[in-house]
Amino acid sequence: MPASVKTKEFVPQDGQQTLIPPDLFKQGMRRLAGACTIITSIAPGQGREGWAGLTATAVTSVTADPPKILVCINRSVWAHRMITRSRVLGVNVLADDCLHLANRFAGGCKPEERFEEGVWLTSTSGAPLLADALVSLDCIVSEHVEASTHDIFICDVLGMIQRERKGNPLIYFDGAYLCDAEALEPVANKGENDEHRSK
Ligand SMILES: Cc1cc2nc3c(=O)[nH]c(=O)nc-3n(C[C@H](O)[C@H](O)[C@H](O)COP(=O)(O)O)c2cc1C
Repeated sequence: MPASVKTKEFVPQDGQQTLIPPDLFKQGMRRLAGACTIITSIAPGQGREGWAGLTATAVTSVTADPPKILVCINRSVWAHRMITRSRVLGVNVLADDCLHLANRFAGGCKPEERFEEGVWLTSTSGAPLLADALVSLDCIVSEHVEASTHDIFICDVLGMIQRERKGNPLIYFDGAYLCDAEALEPVANKGENDEHRSK
């Protein structure tokens, strides 16, 4: 590595088990590219009025047999209470032409207005599924693990719709959407504390 390349590091002192500072950790995690999804849920018995959703990258496959997926959701997020009450959850994997929806579901508009854009279908469990997603999963929460500010929901996958469509995935990296050339350009020059989001 050339000597001119700036590095940030935190090296534990001998014998100490201190944690790295949260801000440093956040900066490091900006280098972990994430596939963008919209996680949806419902308030029991409320129909469309009770739909809720958020943009999320903390989503991963857990096991294929049985099919299980996990999502990490901040307890302060509006959709969190719907998921804990209904235990129903939809995972919609976004293509890069759905950037506008990613912004919308990341707080770009009020929770109750988010589903006014996009074509949404109702899954068997009741979770809204995006007709334009690369793939959508219809899930039921099987385990719920508390982790500080977030909850980890481990889910059984009851249904899946994989679309016959072209499209690159929508990836979030270093505080910007990778398809969004304009937004990506200034990232290299961004200040260290210029967080695009805090998950
Ligand atoms: C690219 C991206 C990824 C995100 N990933 C997560 C996530 O995995 N978990 C989470 O709880 N919030 C995540 N967020 C933040 C939520 O989308 C955001 O806090 C939420 O939609 C706004 O809260 P509200 O629904 O209460 O208004 C992410 C935001 C962005 C822009």
